[in-house]
Amino acid sequence: MSPKPVILDVDPGHDDAVALMLACGHPGLDLLAVTTVAGNVPLQKTTRNALRVLSLVGRTDVPVGAGASKPLKRPLHTAEDIHGKSGLDGPEEIPEATFGPDERGAVELIAATLQSSSEPVNLVPVGPLTNIAAFLRTHPDLKDRIARISLMGGSIGLGNTTPAAEFNIYVDPEAAREVFESGLPITMSGLDVTHQAGAGPAERERLRATGRVGGVVAGFLDFFAAAYEEVFGFDAPPLHDPVAVAAVLAPDLLKTRPMRVDVECESDLTRGETVCDFYGVTGRAPNAEVGVELDREGFFELLYGALGRL
Ligand code: RIB
Ligand code: CA
Repeated sequence: MSPKPVILDVDPGHDDAVALMLACGHPGLDLLAVTTVAGNVPLQKTTRNALRVLSLVGRTDVPVGAGASKPLKRPLHTAEDIHGKSGLDGPEEIPEATFGPDERGAVELIAATLQSSSEPVNLVPVGPLTNIAAFLRTHPDLKDRIARISLMGGSIGLGNTTPAAEFNIYVDPEAAREVFESGLPITMSGLDVTHQAGAGPAERERLRATGRVGGVVAGFLDFFAAAYEEVFGFDAPPLHDPVAVAAVLAPDLLKTRPMRVDVECESDLTRGETVCDFYGVTGRAPNAEVGVELDREGFFELLYGALGRL
């Protein structure tokens, strides 16, 4: 089967970095481009981190377009408490990038990539959805060049940034609303499934054993683990973003349920909540396939295999 074309939109972020590595390491995906957005840390740092990760794995052929430095309407909210000041804090700094960002920027890089692809492309946003909303506003004519949007974000249940809202949606709820209302096929990997992808000591040892890149990942995941333990009391840090990549690469790993998803943008108390109509009580047509269960073992085996190839 030919590799599936993907564009990743990222805010690295430890789990974003692993998502990039999964996309680079597995032959089932063709990573056409990467775009960066402000989220976990400001844009300059997320862009630096994306370039560093791609350099580390030898993929300086992948263009990186820097995107939005803030949400559509709101001030930026970041997550240095989880990812550290650099956004990729860990025992050792990964080396500086050996290439620079693409001068086209996120929106025009997505447009050019879609226009030049021989087939529709999967968009995999794993940060705030600002770039995706900006792209859809600017190039609505290119929507038919998008195969699917496989996003990490939201939650059927609890939030992680407020009791109601997951970080990516919380940061830019207006952008998220525009994406969910775009009419495009959407797979939502929310906290309900990404919290099943906790990388505990055993998983980090398996990652370390995969080789050079796995050793670096295991190292910075130790930092990520300590942060998740301190902030959330988790015994294993969830690898949120790679789940959205796996949902494209191996859809059978993610059990989904079609639902209507609406994004709360008005309430201060519940801003950024993804209101998921699990039982269909609104009678409104579903606009997303929402992840409800992850094949955890299959997910990690996919990840080990991909990192072992880098
Ligand atoms: O809530 C988890 C999400 O927020 C992940 O994408 C993580 O990288 C942060 O962006
Ligand atoms: Ca992210």
